[in-house]
Amino acid sequence: MLENMTTLKNNQPKIANQNLIAWVQEMAALCKPTSVHWCDGSETENQSLCDLMVQSGTFIKLNEKKRPGSYLARSHPSDVARVEDRTFICSQTAAEAGPTNNWADPVKMKAELLARFKGCMAGRTMYVIPFAMGPLASPICKIGIEITDSPYVVVNMRIMTRMGKSVLDKLGTDSEFIPCVHSVGAPLAPGQKDVAWPCEPDPKKKYIVHFPDDPSIWSYGSGYGGNALLGKKCLALRIASTVAKREGWMAEHMLILGVESPSNKKYYVAAAFPSACGKTNLAMMQPTLPGWKVTTLGDDIAWIRVGKDGQLWAMNPETGFFGVAPGTSAKSNPHALTSCAKNTVFTNVVLTPDNDIWWEDMGVPAPATGIDWEGNPWTPTSGKKGAHANSRFTAPASQCPVIDPAWQSPEGVPLSAILFGGRRPGTIPLVNEAFDWEHGVFMGSACGSETTAAALGTAGVLRRDPFAMLPFCGYNMGDYFAHWLSFAKKTDRSKLPKVFFVNWFRRSAEGKFLWPGYGDNSRVLKWICERVEGTGKAQTTPIGHIPTRDALDLSGLNISGDDLAELLKVDLAGWQTEIADVAANYAKFGDKLPPALNAQLDSLKQRIG
Ligand code: GTP
Ligand code: SPV
Ligand code: MN
Repeated sequence: MLENMTTLKNNQPKIANQNLIAWVQEMAALCKPTSVHWCDGSETENQSLCDLMVQSGTFIKLNEKKRPGSYLARSHPSDVARVEDRTFICSQTAAEAGPTNNWADPVKMKAELLARFKGCMAGRTMYVIPFAMGPLASPICKIGIEITDSPYVVVNMRIMTRMGKSVLDKLGTDSEFIPCVHSVGAPLAPGQKDVAWPCEPDPKKKYIVHFPDDPSIWSYGSGYGGNALLGKKCLALRIASTVAKREGWMAEHMLILGVESPSNKKYYVAAAFPSACGKTNLAMMQPTLPGWKVTTLGDDIAWIRVGKDGQLWAMNPETGFFGVAPGTSAKSNPHALTSCAKNTVFTNVVLTPDNDIWWEDMGVPAPATGIDWEGNPWTPTSGKKGAHANSRFTAPASQCPVIDPAWQSPEGVPLSAILFGGRRPGTIPLVNEAFDWEHGVFMGSACGSETTAAALGTAGVLRRDPFAMLPFCGYNMGDYFAHWLSFAKKTDRSKLPKVFFVNWFRRSAEGKFLWPGYGDNSRVLKWICERVEGTGKAQTTPIGHIPTRDALDLSGLNISGDDLAELLKVDLAGWQTEIADVAANYAKFGDKLPPALNAQLDSLKQRIG
């Protein structure tokens, strides 16, 4: 089996787990790397990988005075975002994957993958990354082992997850791990020179594959973000959602924040918005309302379970932010800027002449000249954006100046409110509170948003993205809806968080945002806290509880009465179109759609008239 194992350079530490050793040997025999490197997660190892990538041209070291410990990477132009049409869920049957996922037969797909992976790491080092999603002491912590031929992935995984020796120790002799295999899909022939960003440029030869029954993950051809950092969307959302369904908890595409009032009352809130729709910004927002404080627990993923007290407790399984760069400024998100002030990997942004980075709407003047994300000379007047729309920073969460003291708590934090949202230029009001849990689940299921650059494809078209989980739910979304509904029976209803739908992206007829957003979203958070306390004023409308015009704290904000009225209006005609669109989406699920949601849709229809 292991033709070249005896000659293979391998720094394998003492491993107690025989399954792990056997699997790594099997993968080495399949992928045929020149050496195997077991990652210990140490600072020394990290530095040597960064140095290696500077030598190979993958990394550019940034100005040590301005951006200590930080690097810029530029991806291949074909490899800039998640590839949803090449993402597969290989459950036993297509019905288990459901109508919103690409299903492939697990046996056929495995054969196809084995053919792709055969020899795919030739000329490269195979890195073995032991990682944990969630604090090691958490009852729902999951261990993964990612095998990859990309040092870029190793360095990013070290920021995004708990990685290295402590995880191997936790694994012990017989604990389970989720095998995650990743290759950039660019084997090197003897003597062949490597490129800065190796990948498989042909979109049809990329694979992001999940086997929920193993469970295991296989990713081929891409080195970018969620395609390659397999702890994130693949494990912590797609695979975890299937495990969570079975074990009675939830894996969600949600930020987690703490919000504290001037009288020091603190609430925890989770919010699901689709990709590039404002999670990172809300998670670390600097409130414009005096005396209010927001603290960050997570910006992308929440694992939620019923706690001993019957409340829903949320935990962030990650340790870093893979945040959207463009638009991040001292005005919009100062805490994100501080988070990426050092020890950060930037991907696909502009390189300035003084070896720092820049992106559109960073709030500082563009450099007179620079190098754009494709590596070409660039000027602000070149008529082209310098940073890719899905350019990102990978920054340690511990560097966030408003990180919540409880962010690494193994139990997580108890949720008082859950928010859903999306980019909706019309119809959907600024904020709307659900009547009860079932209505809240209906709101989540009806979530829609304009598409963004976070996935390859056309941006700016309205699509239904239930719970912001359309690209991330690892099983039939009809069953997922039922799972959400079931929480009303798993605990005392009064312990469940209140549910709200928010929309920061309402536009005027001229196309300008009606709501200032960012720090001013604290005004909406304040009303939400008041609703949780039972003091916030609301009008009951056909679509939910909406703040009365005097209920939102608008002190110090210059907003016209007309704009405010528009933001809080129930647009009956718009809702009729909305209902028809939600109904059309529901139809996809056939008899998997829980009757309770159809009933919600019917009563909304009646209330709208
Ligand atoms: P993913 O990491 O892809 O899951 O994205 P995300 O949901 O964390 O989105 P993020 O906070 O990075 O925001 C994406 C884009 O939305 C950025 O360009 C922001 O500037 C913009 N944005 C965020 N919040 C607001 C807001 O309140 N109003 C407006 N108008 N834009 C916002
Ligand atoms: C998203 O697309 O929701 C992201 C970025 O958070 S990625 O990790 O690439 O999926
Ligand atoms: Mn995301």
